[in-house]
Amino acid sequence: MTEKILAAQPLPGLKRAGFTSGFGVLAATLGSAVGLGNIWKVPYLTGANGGAGFLLVYLLATLLVGLPVMIAEIAMGRQARANPVSALQKLAPRGQPWWLIGVAGIVAAFLILSFYSEVVAWVFAYVFKALRGSLLSSDRQVTEAAFAALISDPLQSLLWQWGVLAFIGSILLLGVTKGIEAITKKLMPILFLLLLLLCAFSLSLDKAAEGLAFLFKPDFGKITASVVLTAMGLAFFKLSIGMGTMMTYGSYFGDGQNIPVTAARVMVADLCVSMLAGMAIFPAVFTFGFAPTAGPSLVFITLPAVFSHMPMGQALMVAFFVLAAVAATGAMLSLMEVPVVVLHERLGWSRPKATLASLLVLMLLGSGCALSNNVLADFKPWGMTLFDLFDFVSSNLLLPAGGIFIALFAGWAWRGEGLKRALSNHGQLRNETLARALVVLLRYVSPLLILLVMLKGLGLF
Ligand code: PFF
Repeated sequence: MTEKILAAQPLPGLKRAGFTSGFGVLAATLGSAVGLGNIWKVPYLTGANGGAGFLLVYLLATLLVGLPVMIAEIAMGRQARANPVSALQKLAPRGQPWWLIGVAGIVAAFLILSFYSEVVAWVFAYVFKALRGSLLSSDRQVTEAAFAALISDPLQSLLWQWGVLAFIGSILLLGVTKGIEAITKKLMPILFLLLLLLCAFSLSLDKAAEGLAFLFKPDFGKITASVVLTAMGLAFFKLSIGMGTMMTYGSYFGDGQNIPVTAARVMVADLCVSMLAGMAIFPAVFTFGFAPTAGPSLVFITLPAVFSHMPMGQALMVAFFVLAAVAATGAMLSLMEVPVVVLHERLGWSRPKATLASLLVLMLLGSGCALSNNVLADFKPWGMTLFDLFDFVSSNLLLPAGGIFIALFAGWAWRGEGLKRALSNHGQLRNETLARALVVLLRYVSPLLILLVMLKGLGLF
C-alpha cells in the first residue's frame, strides 16, 4: 500500500477526464471560489473595516498574494495533468519531498469539508423551512430561537449534513465533465440571476442608501495593520488556494486555456458576487432597523427577520437560501474532488469507490462538527469544539502553510522556467513580462506576506 501511495506516476490505463469548454472551465473554477465566504464574510468585513478603503486593500492583497498563488497552482496542475500529490512528484526535482504539500491538502480538504458541510446543512435546512414559511418572524429573538433549535438537535444536524454530503458525492459520481462541469455551468448563471433579483428588490427599499453607504463609504482611518492582514487571509480563503483545489482543477484545464486571463476573470467575478451579495443584504438590513452582523448570525438570524418585513418576504427568503446553497455547492464540489481524485489515481480505485470512501470518512469526521453544538458541546480538545478546531487548523495552519510552499515551489524549485513555459502555453502566448513579474512575487512577496498572515492567525504576531 505505501509503495502504491508513493508511486510517482498515476496508475497506467487510467484515462483522465477534463473540462471541455472555456465556459466550463470558468464556471467550475468560479464555482470553487464562490461560496459562503461571499455571503457572510466579505460584505460584512468590507462594511465594518472602512468600505471602499478595505476593498482597495483587499484588491491589493488579491493581486500580490491570491492571484499569483492561484495562477501557479493551476499551471502546476495542468502541466502535470495529475492529482496534487502526483503533480508535485512529477514536477519536483528528484527526491525532494514537495509532494507533502499535496498530502497536507487532502487533510485540509477533509477538515474544511467537515465544518463547511455543517454550515451548508443549515442552509439546505433553511431552504425547506423558508418554503414551509416556518421562519417568518419579524422578531429577532424568535428567529434566534429557531436557529438554536436547529443546531442543538443532534439528529437534525447529522441528517442534514449527511444529506448535503451525499448530494455533493452524487454529483461527483457523475465525473468531472458530466458532474462538476455540467452542474456548475448550470449553477453559475442561476447564482447571478438570483443575486440580481435580490439586489433589485433590496435597492428599491427606503433606506437603501444607508446600506450602500455602510458597504462602500471609504473610511481610511479604519485600516489598521490587523485589517490589512485580515484582507490578505480573506483573499486566500476566497480564491480556494493553498490546498490543491486549484491544482486539481488546473489538471482539467485544456492546453489552449489562457491561465492568467482565466484566473483574473475568476477573481473579478468572485469580487462582483461578494459586492452584489452586500448590495442585496445591507440595504434591507438598514431599512428595517437591524444592526449589521457577520457570519451565521447574519444569515440565519438577522436575515430571516429582515425578510419577514419585506413584501413577498417568503419568496425572497427562499431565493436567498437557494442562492447560498448554489454558492456553497460549487465550493464543496471542488473540496471533495481533491481526495476523490487522489484515491482514484494513486490507488487505482474506480471513481465511485473513491467517492464513497471519501464520503464515509467525511460522514465520520463531519459528525464531530455536527455534534459540536449539542452532545459534543463540552468536548474541547485545546479549548475548542471540534467545529472550531477544524476551522482553526485548516484556515490558520494548513492553508497558509500550503500557500507558502506552493509559492516557493513555483518560484524556486520549478525554477521559474517551468512556470513561464506553462503560462505561455509552451510558446503560444506572449506573456513573458507577466510571467517574470509573477516569478518575483512568488519568490519573495507572496511567501512573506502569507507568513505574516499565518503568524497573526496563530496569535504570534
Ligand atoms: N472559496 C470558498 C468560499 O469563499 O466560501 C471556500 C473554499 C472552497 C475554501 C474551496 C477552500 C477551498 F478549497
